[in-house]
Amino acid sequence: MPETARRVVLASRPVGEPKASDFRLEEFPVPQAGPGQVLLKTKWLSLDPYMRGRMSDAPSYAKPVGIGEVMEGGTVSEVVASNSDKYRNGDIVLSRAGWQTHMVSDGAGLRKLDPKVAPVSTALGVLGMPGMTAYTGLLEIGAPKAGETVVVSAASGAVGSVVGQVARIKGARAVGIAGGADKCRYVREELGFDECVDHRDPALRDKLKAACPKGIDVYFENVGGASQEAVWPLLNFFARIPVCGLIAQYSATELPAGPNRVPQIFRDVLTKRLTIRGFIVSDFWGRFDEFIREVPQWIREGRIKYREDIAEGLENAPATFMGLLKGKNFGKQLVRVSE
Ligand SMILES: NC(=O)c1ccc[n+]([C@@H]2O[C@H](COP(=O)([O-])OP(=O)(O)OC[C@H]3O[C@@H](n4cnc5c(N)ncnc54)[C@H](OP(=O)(O)O)[C@@H]3O)[C@@H](O)[C@H]2O)c1
Repeated sequence: MPETARRVVLASRPVGEPKASDFRLEEFPVPQAGPGQVLLKTKWLSLDPYMRGRMSDAPSYAKPVGIGEVMEGGTVSEVVASNSDKYRNGDIVLSRAGWQTHMVSDGAGLRKLDPKVAPVSTALGVLGMPGMTAYTGLLEIGAPKAGETVVVSAASGAVGSVVGQVARIKGARAVGIAGGADKCRYVREELGFDECVDHRDPALRDKLKAACPKGIDVYFENVGGASQEAVWPLLNFFARIPVCGLIAQYSATELPAGPNRVPQIFRDVLTKRLTIRGFIVSDFWGRFDEFIREVPQWIREGRIKYREDIAEGLENAPATFMGLLKGKNFGKQLVRVSE
């Protein structure tokens, strides 16, 4: 029996939260590698919040996935057939095969991974795009100094967990905001943050204030919403806010009700001399060599820990992704597509 390939395509553009019918699982014949090409079999698929943006055709920094097209995504894949001089069967590569079991590649954009250096799944997490996002966004824009207070939202996740640990390495006080007691305990006890507060706690504002007795010098923004509102009054003069993500509003269909707060926000920007800067990790690819030298060393020294949340099977990618947008993941969300 010839092997059948599978893929998850975008069936419709979600309105609000994505639902199962926005995705479709399809089978297709395993493609053949042509001259100079390789056939890749996906081992690991990364699920990331940005994929919600790709499902929408609203103007953004990247092209949306088309209806009927394979959902985009970073993957770790094995070369299972090669007509290329650069790759041999059994090589493991970082790739962007998306939500599918097989893909033919001409080699563009592939990076060979050495399983002896680190578990290959980490190329999608702590040693990959999310880790690089945390490292560069914090150091380039946040620029924490020893003794300052750094707050990060979605603190137990792929990006947030690295932000707080790097902040500690730089001598800053790290305070996380995360959803629920288990995640907060993990952030404090396993990741070594100084404090972590639960964004679902009705006393969030008071608890964050108590956790930041000297105010906030850097707020690494991953979420928006209630976390941002609790942070805002605590910002110190000359605070820096790397705006990395706003996951709490990715599926919003309208602006929140209430008074227009833009004038007040701008007043604070002026009087407190705040720096608010959005960034996309690709803005800082120039620092990749430094990142990939420093972070593995910190992992070996036990100064950076990470956690992976593994779903089994491509067919479970849609439900797992919908869960990620609601905080059901605990650590970097991966899908094991094949052994
Ligand atoms: N700018 C860039 O280049 C770039 C690159 C990578 C990631 N990002 C952004 O960074 C952020 C974190 O990404 P990640 O990959 O590390 O994901 P993650 O933190 O591993 O997972 C997402 C987490 O977001 C939190 N969340 C979801 N809905 C929320 C809500 N309504 N209110 C508060 N928290 C909510 C949940 O954590 P809790 O259970 O703790 O609430 C959830 O576990 C996202 O906003 C993402 O878009 C940006």
